[in-house]
Amino acid sequence: MLRSILLLKKALLTLLLCGSATAQDDDALTSGVPMAPLQAVANPASQAEVELGRELFFDVRLSRTDRVSCANCHDPEKGFSNGQRLAKGVDGREGKRHVPSLINVGYIRTLFWEGRAADLQQQALLPIQNKAEMDMPLEVLEKKLNGIADYKRRFEQVYGGSVTADRVAAALAAYQRSIVSNDTPFDHYLRGDRESLSASSKRGMKLFFGQASCSRCHTGAQLTDNKFHNIGAGDPADTGRRAVTRRREDHGAFRTPQLREVAHTAPYMHDGSFQTLKEVVQHYNFGGVTDHENNHRDELLEVLYLGEDQVDDLISFLTEGLSSNGNDLSRGKPQTPARASKR
Ligand code: HEC
Ligand code: HEC
Repeated sequence: MLRSILLLKKALLTLLLCGSATAQDDDALTSGVPMAPLQAVANPASQAEVELGRELFFDVRLSRTDRVSCANCHDPEKGFSNGQRLAKGVDGREGKRHVPSLINVGYIRTLFWEGRAADLQQQALLPIQNKAEMDMPLEVLEKKLNGIADYKRRFEQVYGGSVTADRVAAALAAYQRSIVSNDTPFDHYLRGDRESLSASSKRGMKLFFGQASCSRCHTGAQLTDNKFHNIGAGDPADTGRRAVTRRREDHGAFRTPQLREVAHTAPYMHDGSFQTLKEVVQHYNFGGVTDHENNHRDELLEVLYLGEDQVDDLISFLTEGLSSNGNDLSRGKPQTPARASKR
């Protein structure tokens, strides 16, 4: 009896409050911040440099076997990941980690899942040389690309000199900084368009910043704190951040990923162990507890007690709210400069 009176009161209150729904939405979003243009770029990359980087990114000749390009693993049509659990490089060699998406990568402070590389330019030469990825020694790369007249000419135009590994890295970095998503319905909402999100996505957004406490870690304009946490995903044998800091408390911690376009980058986590966003949300709903013994799970995680509808709303926010379908992130492959004449 008491319960039904309370429910009736609640229903009446909701009716009365309908008019002030917008004000409530604003309150829910105190920690939502619009994305600023990339400031990390000291010299705004010229369009010619970005285009050169884009061609290199799609060019299989950067690999020893002429079969693997950056885009083989970071495929624009799969949200700049590869749609698989783990990476696959030259001769089908399998890597140990899931391919991270490169969307908004120019904003990230430390690269790789456990943050072992400092910036895009430093990072770019690592996959080229990695035996399980492109397996290409840098001297061979320089010689090979200098033998391709079109590349030689383009490097001359952009950098005023021949192809060097450092210039390849600079061009690749310039292209990757151009892979930006900042025009999702959530972004429109943050800029003041209160109609951009569906009712379900809006409820999901409130949960994200409220009861579900996702924003304890997925915070700021990029929805990441740029820090490392152990959320209980994957094989506890992967030391994660501990390999960099040598601190026991960092065992199994990985960088909080940014979340724009996340609906297009499945599977999820550093080892690709979650197939769907529903699995991800349910994992958090259970406080990140799994069958594995784990003494390092982050204290920020707790059981959330979300009902099915709330789980669906959160997923709506992650999928509709954070996807910019109109934004062309998957521009087709560029023409790669003509092959070197037979050597
Ligand atoms: C064989 C698959 C493969 C290829 C080829 C490859 N990558 Fe990756 N890439 C990965 C994997 C796997 C990681 C994550 C590794 C880790 O964190 O341990 C990664 C990480 C990165 C990151 C860091 C992203 C982040 O969120 O921290 C960048 C940037 C990147 N790759 C750019 C490139 C570029 C540029 C190329 C081409 C020169 C390239 N990758 C080629 C698989 C690949
Ligand atoms: C304690 C910090 C923390 C909290 C709280 C948190 N996350 Fe995460 N999130 C992370 C970290 C760290 C990863 C990467 C973990 C890994 O790879 O092992 C991650 C990964 C993800 C991924 C996978 C992204 C990808 O590209 O693979 C999604 C989706 C996600 N979180 C959504 C959420 C949602 C939704 C919530 C709230 C219900 C939430 N997170 C709460 C830190 C957190």
